[in-house]
Amino acid sequence: MNGARGDAGVRTAGALVLALPKGRVMEESLAALRAAGLRLEPRGAGRALSYDAGDALVIEMRNADVPTYVELGVADAGVVGKDVLMEAGSRLAEPVDLGLAACRLSLIRPRGATTMVERVATKYPRLTAAYLGRIGSGAEVVKLTGNVELACLTGLADAVVDVVQTGGTLRDNDLEEVDVIAHSTARFVVNRASLKLRSDRLRPLIEALRRQPGAR
Ligand code: PRP
Repeated sequence: MNGARGDAGVRTAGALVLALPKGRVMEESLAALRAAGLRLEPRGAGRALSYDAGDALVIEMRNADVPTYVELGVADAGVVGKDVLMEAGSRLAEPVDLGLAACRLSLIRPRGATTMVERVATKYPRLTAAYLGRIGSGAEVVKLTGNVELACLTGLADAVVDVVQTGGTLRDNDLEEVDVIAHSTARFVVNRASLKLRSDRLRPLIEALRRQPGAR
């Protein structure tokens, strides 16, 4: 894939390129985009990382990579959690709060833990460091990339900062939410150049997404 703006290897003439996060937000994102009028076919079987969905070319990636693809113009727009945007320090245009994938970023500890927090594991080191600074904690921050709660269970860290959505992971692992650091929902983000150059496609889509129930 060529990283130059507007010259990505996955681009096809005229097609909008959408960066969408793999996993549980993917289907909800596609449903919101379809409800806003985009004709988006489901991906076929197999492991293709990008596919022509009809009205757009969909490229799939880990949610933490969505801001980079949109910022650099490989994708015209994307869907990503506010938690990820805050961690990335993103300055992307966020014209729509889709209201999807509502979750919170929380400090989590083994149930009943009372010792001082000395080490915190997280996928969100910037937000965690800022939070620890606000509460006057000198705890060390350790960066992990997934299954962060495991750090608490194994003693790698005495607390973690991670996403809580249904609370199922906490319940199943005898962990508790000690403090809520931030709230997050999925946002529709757009590349600023695309917003100007492809306003005929993006402006009506943004307006239609804003009219969806729960969106603003
Ligand atoms: C997220 C998060 C928690 C879990 C919380 O992980 O890191 O582990 O979901 O959701 P719950 O409250 O509904 O149980 P995800 O499944 O996205 O995978 P990851 O840890 O590999 O990022």
